[in-house]
Amino acid sequence: MDEAYRKLCQADKDLAEGVEVSILLVDDEPSNLKLLERTLEPCGYFRLVSTSDPRTVFDLCLRHSFALIILDLNMPYLDGFQVMSRLRESRNVEGLPPILVVTAQHDQEHRVRALQEGAADYVTKPFQVDELRARVSNLVKVRLFQKRMQMLIQNLETGVRERTEELLRSRQMIRELAAHREKIREEERARIAREIHDEFGQYLTALRMDTAMLNIRYGAANPELKQHLVDMKQTIDTTIGVVRNLAAALRPGALDMGLVSAAEWLLAGFEERTGIAYRLHAPREDLGLDDERATAVFRILQEALTNITRYAQASVVNVAINLAGDALVMQVSDDGIGFDPALVRCRKTFGLLGIRERALMFGGESRIDSEPGAGTILCIQIPLQIQGH
Ligand SMILES: Nc1ncnc2c1ncn2[C@@H]1O[C@H](COP(=O)(O)OP(=O)(O)O)[C@@H](O)[C@H]1O
Ligand SMILES: [Mg+2]
Repeated sequence: MDEAYRKLCQADKDLAEGVEVSILLVDDEPSNLKLLERTLEPCGYFRLVSTSDPRTVFDLCLRHSFALIILDLNMPYLDGFQVMSRLRESRNVEGLPPILVVTAQHDQEHRVRALQEGAADYVTKPFQVDELRARVSNLVKVRLFQKRMQMLIQNLETGVRERTEELLRSRQMIRELAAHREKIREEERARIAREIHDEFGQYLTALRMDTAMLNIRYGAANPELKQHLVDMKQTIDTTIGVVRNLAAALRPGALDMGLVSAAEWLLAGFEERTGIAYRLHAPREDLGLDDERATAVFRILQEALTNITRYAQASVVNVAINLAGDALVMQVSDDGIGFDPALVRCRKTFGLLGIRERALMFGGESRIDSEPGAGTILCIQIPLQIQGH
């Protein structure tokens, strides 16, 4: 074997990384096939599959993965053009190996047509051995590069898919963990609120009654004591108020009467503190929300009102709570200064994020519509049915 050909073959071999490279030879004339085999065989590297019947090409292509097809044009049953067009129909472009036409047809017309029909190269018989070898080697190289590229892309896609799945899984886990902690936190708050309310309330009420009784017994005879007792009763009343507020801040008792009552209570306090008027549109009948959902929606409203108090400079807030299909929908809109949500998303803020996550916990969603100067609308939607829990 001459040195140049040995070098060519070595380069191809390196590129193939140990994978055997097969070439299909198609020519109706056995002596032509022999000549092609003798030309390409000496490197001992290509696996050559020969056929003198063009009709067997398609079946062979299904059984082998050829790096190249060397194809004659003039053949009985099917000519080279028909083989090419059938191959094109039967496979996608990437699956199709390049085709090198080796033919006795010297004329320009055949050459151009073959190239137009998808042949990668065209060599006329009798061919020059070195030229054919070089062309074969070039085509095989391109094919091997293409294969390697496909493999890389495939690996990359698999990798990306796996990472994405992993990411989604861990996100889901974080979400579930957050939901779990949120639930525990709300239960704890409710328990502490109840204890503060009941225990403190009981003792304070007892104290209040004692002062009233002392007043009845000794007040008339002792004006100084009477005044003290009046002051004491007032202090106790203030303390009862503080305890109630504290308990309500932890968990509003109104929530026990349903979301709408709790929203009413929250908005009344909001209006009193901020001077911002509110309108609440909500159905009179019970919404049938479970406590977890009612609490979540209540917390969302609370956060929205906190933001309006802090940033909106609004004069009116509209809150609409409704059932739409199998979901609860709440819309909170203000006529304040608005903001650019895209800018806020880049910052690390937890209010709006918390709203979004709370909605997601129940398989719902939240949307913020706002722009500077145009007020803000927050819309959340939470399915009533348990989904994916
Ligand atoms: N109703 C609103 N009106 C105007 N700006 C708002 C309103 N709600 C939110 N924002 C803007 O969005 C930002 C992010 O809000 P949020 O996520 O609750 O975080 P934080 O309140 O801690 O800043 C706020 O800093 C404010 O600029
Ligand atoms: Mg906030």
